[in-house]
Amino acid sequence: MDKLKVGIVGAHRGSSYFQPFNAIAVTDIVAVCDINETTLKNTAERFNVPHQFTDYTEMLDAVDLVVLATPENLHVPQSIEALDAGKHVISEVTAAVKLEECHDLVRAVQKSTAKYTMAENTCYFKHNVLIRNMVEKGLFGEVYFGEGEYLHNVKSLHHDTTGNPTWRYYWQVGINRCNYATHSLGPVLQWFGERVVSVCCLGTGVRTDPEHAMEDTVMMLCKTQSGGLIKIRIDMLSNRPANSYFSLQGTKGSYESSRGFGAQPKIWLHDFEAGEVWKPLSEYEPEFLPERWKNPPVEAQNVGDLGEYFKVRDFIDSILNDTTPPIDVYRTMDFTVPGLVSEQSIANGGAPVEVPDFRKVE
Ligand SMILES: NC(=O)c1ccc[n+]([C@@H]2O[C@H](COP(=O)([O-])OP(=O)(O)OC[C@H]3O[C@@H](n4cnc5c(N)ncnc54)[C@H](O)[C@@H]3O)[C@@H](O)[C@H]2O)c1
Repeated sequence: MDKLKVGIVGAHRGSSYFQPFNAIAVTDIVAVCDINETTLKNTAERFNVPHQFTDYTEMLDAVDLVVLATPENLHVPQSIEALDAGKHVISEVTAAVKLEECHDLVRAVQKSTAKYTMAENTCYFKHNVLIRNMVEKGLFGEVYFGEGEYLHNVKSLHHDTTGNPTWRYYWQVGINRCNYATHSLGPVLQWFGERVVSVCCLGTGVRTDPEHAMEDTVMMLCKTQSGGLIKIRIDMLSNRPANSYFSLQGTKGSYESSRGFGAQPKIWLHDFEAGEVWKPLSEYEPEFLPERWKNPPVEAQNVGDLGEYFKVRDFIDSILNDTTPPIDVYRTMDFTVPGLVSEQSIANGGAPVEVPDFRKVE
């Protein structure tokens, strides 16, 4: 079989894809594309990529699959262009910046011969994979509460070295809503195994960076199909060290990830503990971490971050076997759309807003 020819678009975050793709025997990164010629040349030379493009449309002819590691507002137009040309798409997070463009993306996937995924890497964090496996084995009982937090002061990325605003200025913190929530919501929704039907969103007020519309901490409460609750906290503006956090509560189990500073992720499972006492999550790894994480395939042995490798490998396998990608366009919408519609809620004092189900788009 001919190898799948891969093009990386956006050379900064895009660079993280070289290791996984180089490990996979059936893929070849043949092109890199960036409008910044210096970044383009440096990346192509560093990773020994044969073809360089500053024009995305021109690059599409040379590849079978694109990785879109471009600014968030380009993800939908670039995905649609690739899908219309029959090229597979791995889109970085988040998939879209406007609700209206989500319909266009879903329709483009529906009519394309190619496959689409959003590369939500937190779904491939080892601890999140372990918890998911335990949930699927019924160890948490009925799951009804979860939390995801992403606290990362990225104010330094809002302007470039010449002082001009970057895409993050407009699309990550320029709109008051629960932006960039897929890292936090994605894994928790996988644990719940359902979608969000409505959100309520409130913020703390604009405190540290009056230049931006987004309130410093924004909190989104998500009601799931079965009536469960997921709390998402996003803060990309407050002066503080970074942290991300997850938790899960079910009728038979409870999980709290580490908040850093030496703390361990901890878990309590009714089926394993007579009393209500925490255990280190690591104690359950030998029994419940999926087999492929314990004994990775030979090609993954020097891949560095295993999660990044499985994220790419799963999508390639869905192409090779013509199966649905683990994070297909509908799951992508489940992760992305709550954050988009939270804009209406926060503008209306936290009033609940319905989250559309894109499986109904025709
Ligand atoms: N999954 C993660 O953990 C993670 C981490 C960082 C960034 N990201 C995502 O990756 C994407 C890129 O983020 P970044 O931090 O690398 O941003 P960045 O601004 O540092 O890099 C974006 C690159 O895209 C290039 N570019 C812009 N327009 C282009 C176009 N039309 N065609 C080709 N290249 C173009 C820019 O020149 C730049 O090199 C974003 O969507 C971001 O949300 C994800």
